[in-house]
Amino acid sequence: METSSSALHQRVYTPLNALAAHAEHLQAQSLSDLLENDDTAQQRAASLAYTLGSLHIDFSKQRLTQQTLSLLVEWAYSCGLEAKRQALFAGAEVNSSEKRPALHMAARWPAKKLPPEGMEAAAKFCQQQRTKMASLVQRVHQGEWFGATGQAITDIVHIGVGGSDLGPKLVSESLADCPSRVKVGVHYVSTMDGSQLLPLMETLNPATTLLVLASKSFTTADTQFNARTALLWLSDALEVEEATIRRYQLLGVSAKPDKMTEFGIPEAHQLEFKEWIGGRFSLWSPIGVSIAMQLGLEQFDALLDGAHAMDQHFMATPLKDNLPVLVGLVGAWNCQFLNIPTHVVLPYDGRLKSLAAYLQQLEMESNGKSVGLDGRSINHATCPILWGDVGPNAQHAFYQLLHQGGHTVSADFIAIAGGSSFPSAQIYTALKEQGALTLANCLAQAQLFALGDDAIPPSLRGYMAQGYRGNQPNSAILLKTLDAWSLGALLALYEHKVFVQSVLWNINPFDQPGVELGKQLASSLYQTLVGQPAQHDNVEDPSTAQLLRKVNEWR
Ligand code: F6P
Repeated sequence: METSSSALHQRVYTPLNALAAHAEHLQAQSLSDLLENDDTAQQRAASLAYTLGSLHIDFSKQRLTQQTLSLLVEWAYSCGLEAKRQALFAGAEVNSSEKRPALHMAARWPAKKLPPEGMEAAAKFCQQQRTKMASLVQRVHQGEWFGATGQAITDIVHIGVGGSDLGPKLVSESLADCPSRVKVGVHYVSTMDGSQLLPLMETLNPATTLLVLASKSFTTADTQFNARTALLWLSDALEVEEATIRRYQLLGVSAKPDKMTEFGIPEAHQLEFKEWIGGRFSLWSPIGVSIAMQLGLEQFDALLDGAHAMDQHFMATPLKDNLPVLVGLVGAWNCQFLNIPTHVVLPYDGRLKSLAAYLQQLEMESNGKSVGLDGRSINHATCPILWGDVGPNAQHAFYQLLHQGGHTVSADFIAIAGGSSFPSAQIYTALKEQGALTLANCLAQAQLFALGDDAIPPSLRGYMAQGYRGNQPNSAILLKTLDAWSLGALLALYEHKVFVQSVLWNINPFDQPGVELGKQLASSLYQTLVGQPAQHDNVEDPSTAQLLRKVNEWR
């Protein structure tokens, strides 16, 4: 009897085929089944929780079993993850389209520790820049950086966008209440429309404001235009030549020292990082200078130490116990095998309000691609659409849809166990109670996501409205406290998650060709709008044309 090739194909054992079959089998089992209150479920839950330092991750509300994890780990081995991880740390050319390594880990490699073979020169360069950065930061902190009119700097306006903004801004916001003696105000400006700059120009003292111009390429229009306006403001308000402002009140951070020099930034005020640190992986490099300006060098170093601890763990831990590997595998399982198209990030702490935006760039700009490293199209979704907000506030906004709407999502619930300190005992107690309330809400929502109607306590059955869909898989990530070390470890965890998934999906996570065309189109439309001859033709379509007409009419 003849066997059809597709039937034969199905019988060939590969980790991917095994995972597909296993996913089909698991579809029949809901999270309520997996979380029954019996011995088996308790053992399952216990085996899916992991602690590393002050970070705890619990996968027990994911739609998976130990067998799923074994299959996923087998898949990771079959993709050569161990060798690729080693190649990453050894400075191999993992960014093949741009022909360069990806060595952001060098920026957090401790000065006194021998780097892995292949990373030595990179780590040395990063340490030199870190020393230079430290001395510039100290000059500001000690009141020894003087502006063009001789007054000491009190405020920093950090101008950057994408990776030159999201990471530093997230860290600045998250750790703003860390104990520090530093009294420098740090303000972030990213949007190209000038709307964030305007209020700062109205309130800051131009004589004591230092502009940090953060741009890897030093050509990004958003940043260049904001910088131009900010420089005009300083020069105008202080009645000083713009060239003088550039000499005294501008600090440049870029991978293009020539461009910084051309811009009029003295070499002493330039901080450099190399092309082998991708923009969205760059907060550890001098791109993070404004973090150090705001929080002090000690906090910045603690952030790097936390990230380095995660690097060590990622580098040396067997795949089955390796947190970034597990987070990556669980994410791929949800996206590729359970076909869950979106992933929501829900921090239960207002200080992490920019975490989702930061992760959007990190994950979607890295792995949102459908052509593999071998040039072939990938026939399944890579990287879910990532979104999110501060959990307690989102409960009053979009949770309704997640509980009773028709969409399936996966989620990361992120909570902080320890509260903030406060000198007044009464207020400390009140804040502690707010912390407990927040944690209770986080646990309750994660339970409801997983169990749906089965989360209704027996005493309330029949009284509560039903129709909670449940079966929405989620991970809990618990931090002991929101300190610099834990935050560093958390962000490095996500960075390595991205790398792990890129290996599973055979993607280059370190380039972003899909963002270039939009910039080109915008530049010729800009020329049209300001009445200059466009460098490239505009592709005309009636919809854009009529909008242009309306815009011109209203301008
Ligand atoms: O929008 C794409 C992008 O190139 C990001 O990858 C990058 O982080 C951002 O723009 C900013 O780029 P730059 O640091 O070169 O100004």
